[in-house]
Order: sequence, then C-alpha cells, then structure tokens
Amino acid sequence: MEYSCKLGAADKLKSACLVVGVYKNNRLTPLGQGLDAALGGQLKRILKRQDFAGDLGQTQMLYEPKGCAAVRILLVGLGEQKEFSARQFGLALLPAFQQLDKSAATDCLVLLPNDADDESTYRLVREAVNAAEAGVYRFEQCKSEATPPKHPLKRVEFLAQSRAQANAGNRAAEHGRAIGIGSRLAKDLANLPGNICTPTYLAEQAQALGRGKPKLKVTVLSEKQMEKLGMGALLSVSRGSRQPAKLIVLEYNGGKAGSKPVALVGKGLTFDAGGISIKPAANMDEMKYDMCGGASVLGTIAACAELNLPINVVGVVPSSENLPDGDANKPGDIVTSMSGQTIEILNTDAEGRLILCDALTYTERFEPAAVIDIATLTGACIIALGHQASGLLANDDKLAEELFEASTECGDRTWRLPLWDEYQRQLDSNFADMANIGGRPAGTITAACFLSRYAKAFKWAHLDIAGVAWNSGEKKGATGRPVPLLTEFLLRRCKASM
Ligand code: BES
Ligand code: MN
Ligand code: ZN
Repeated sequence: MEYSCKLGAADKLKSACLVVGVYKNNRLTPLGQGLDAALGGQLKRILKRQDFAGDLGQTQMLYEPKGCAAVRILLVGLGEQKEFSARQFGLALLPAFQQLDKSAATDCLVLLPNDADDESTYRLVREAVNAAEAGVYRFEQCKSEATPPKHPLKRVEFLAQSRAQANAGNRAAEHGRAIGIGSRLAKDLANLPGNICTPTYLAEQAQALGRGKPKLKVTVLSEKQMEKLGMGALLSVSRGSRQPAKLIVLEYNGGKAGSKPVALVGKGLTFDAGGISIKPAANMDEMKYDMCGGASVLGTIAACAELNLPINVVGVVPSSENLPDGDANKPGDIVTSMSGQTIEILNTDAEGRLILCDALTYTERFEPAAVIDIATLTGACIIALGHQASGLLANDDKLAEELFEASTECGDRTWRLPLWDEYQRQLDSNFADMANIGGRPAGTITAACFLSRYAKAFKWAHLDIAGVAWNSGEKKGATGRPVPLLTEFLLRRCKASM
C-alpha cells in the first residue's frame, strides 16, 4: 500500500473516494465544513436525514456527489469530539478501509480532522496507516483458492491543512508503511501452521529477508554448532522433536561501526504441545503462535531495513518445537545451560525460558547497549493483563521507562510488573541451581525471574506477549504485535542519538 499527504481543495482533488470524518451528532471537521460549503451544503442536507449520526466506526457511502471531483464520499463516524484522539481516529477508520478494500475504489483521500501540531498530526496519520494495514490484511496462503478483493485498496492519501502538517503526515506515512511491512511479515509467519512454519522454515525466511540487503547479515546456527557452545537447555527442548532446532541471528548494521547494538531476542517455538507435561487438547492449535516473539524480531528488523534506520540492531531467535517423545525432557530432568547454571525441569511445558536462557547468554557476545526479549511466555500474563497490554519486566528502570513510553505513544501497550528479589526463591530447587517453574503465584514474574539470571551482563527488558500476539475465536489470527512498539522504540533511539 502507498501512503502520502497532500494539500488542495477537497472538492477539486480527483480520487475514487473522499473519506470525510464526522463527529457524533453530525459535527463536521474544519475541512469537512469547507467541503460542504464548496458543495453547496449537500453534506449537511444528507446529515439532516439522520441515517447517519457520526457514531464511532459508522460509515455511509455517497455516490457521485454533485460538484465534487471525487467519485464517492464516505462519511465516517469519529465518535465523541470531546474524547477524540489519534487512537479513536484509527478505530473510526478501520471499518472504512475494510469497506473500501471490498468496493471498486482503489484509492482514497482522507480529510485530516484538524490542523493539530506536527506531533499530533504525526500520531493521527500513524494510527490511520495502522488501520489501513489492518483493514486490508488477509491470510489465504493455505486456501486452495484464494478470494482476493476484485479491486483492492492500493493508495491512501491524506488531505492536510498546511505544508507543515503535510510534512509531519508524510513522515508518519513513511514510518507507518514500514511498520506495516514488518507487521505483515510477523503475521504471515505466525499464521502459518506448525507443519509448514518449522524452525528450518523460520530460518529460511530470515535468510530470505537478508537477501539483497547489504546492511543485514543473517546467520543460522545448527544443533551441532549449538552443542559446541554448550546450549544444553535449548537443545533439551528440541531433543523431543524430529525437526532440528535453529538459532537464527540477524545483524542489521545501519548505525556507526562500533556503536553498540540493541539486541532483540524472540521466542521462536514453532509448536508448543507442552512436551511430556502435555497441554489439554482444547485450543492447542493456537500454540502454533508460540513463535510470535521470534516473528516480531524478523518483522521489526524488516521495518528497520525498510526505513534504513541509522542504528545497529541484532536479532536472536532460538527456534524449536516442544513435543512429547521418547527422547523428550522428563519432569525432574536436569540440564546444563550455556551459562553453566543447571536447571531442574519440573514442567516440560515451561520450555520458552529454556530456549531463551541460552539465547540470552549467546547475546552477550554482541556487547549490546540493551537487550529486549519478546516471548509468548506465560498463560499467567493473560490472567494478569488480558489482551490489552504486554507484560513488561526489566532489570533497568530507564530501559523499562523508555519502552513504556514508546508503547503508550504508539498504542501497542505494555504494563510493568515488578521483579523484586523476593520472588526469586520460588525458583529454588533441591537438586539443581534453579527449577524451571515457580508455582502458581505470580507466574509471569517468576518466568521473568528465571530469565533475569541469564541477563546479568546487560540492561535487559522482557516483554511477555502471550495476551497480545494473536486473537482467538471467530477472528483468530496474528496481530503483528509488538512490531509497532519495537519499531517505535528504535525510532526514538535514533532520534535521541541525532
Ligand atoms: N507458550 C506457553 C505460554 C502460553 C500459554 C501463551 C497459553 C499463550 C497462551 C508456555 O510455553 C507455557 O506453556 N507456559 C506455561 C508455564 C507453566 C508450566 C509454568 C503456562 O503458562 O502454563
Ligand atoms: Mn509451554
Ligand atoms: Zn511455549
């Protein structure tokens, strides 16, 4: 999809559809009022009919408006004007873009609702682009016959009120488009089933991402290489599977040579049956999404490369399956991690931390400025935060604050949980240095406590994305989160270093 901002008279600009926001109780925006005046009051007359009230997400298509260069006008309810925000703008536009994707219009021109400052305009357009990307996303790779829309939406333009506003909007359009590309990659990989998206497939896709990008180097470590490194925890998970584990390493060198990278470590568990501590059957299919952390690392690096960001980023994705097998981990087994610390595996379903701990130790060699791991790590995180926010835990307050601010700003929310020392003793083991589970209380925190023991060498934050990486039910599908948050974080780091 293409996005850009332009200036001009709403009634004179050619487009397949003018998208005109209307606040609740049919209040027009400034550009909407100007358009209505140029069209001799047509819009106000139609609004008086009361079929449309400006409720959030409501739409009304008008055809061949008189005196207008556009073929259609789509009225879009913006909801309460008092509560209006960039987030609300995105929510309002989502159904509009879905409708346009199905209609014969292949382009549209969206009137910006106000002449807000550069920063607010930037947020409005970012949310709008986000809505457009979500609205047109479809996953049909596994259908024998795809049913793409006959006239898909291809170009979205925004009508600004000033040159400054158009500039801010264009910057947002560029960033939003790149985040869209990254999110799409993450969603596609995540939506693929476990029998297609194996660790080997994920590694191949990472290598494909690196092709033709001189700033991106992709390396894939085999089980043999991981053995040499002593990754006993990671390999113990993979031993119960016929698919070989992979350690995928992506190095994006957009920054100055020698400037310390941000490392993103993503859980790439391509199917989690629980192992010998097998999961119940209901909804187990959704455990194909247990690689969403890894997919978000690939997606974020894709966005960085698309934007040519002046920053160094390392992605590390440990990838494996977790299945029951005669050679699988058994409750009570003790393994030695790459760090040398031993782990008593009391529940084989707590496998994410086992593959991540070795990946974290491996990450030390890049001398990272900061490490963020991203994982669908605990069901407990869904109990704590539901499907709104990722759990955020960190050994560094500044890094946590930076991530929290980025997440609030871009709407890809996080909420911090504590990592107090007192929780650590829940991991005590009678037989090894630590157990891999900490009991029912504070399951998300004890999982992060476990990881923290492998993150002592750097500033580290952990994102538990179990509740946000995919939707269940009728609209089952990956969300692409937290690609928006991670890209926002990196964009801000770039800005701060300039
Ligand atoms: N991948 C799961 C976590 C998960 C479960 C995410 C459901 C989203 C939905 C993880 O590997 C796991 O099984 N965690 C266990 C840990 C427990 C055994 C300490 C869990 O959350 O039940
Ligand atoms: Mn598990
Ligand atoms: Zn898992």
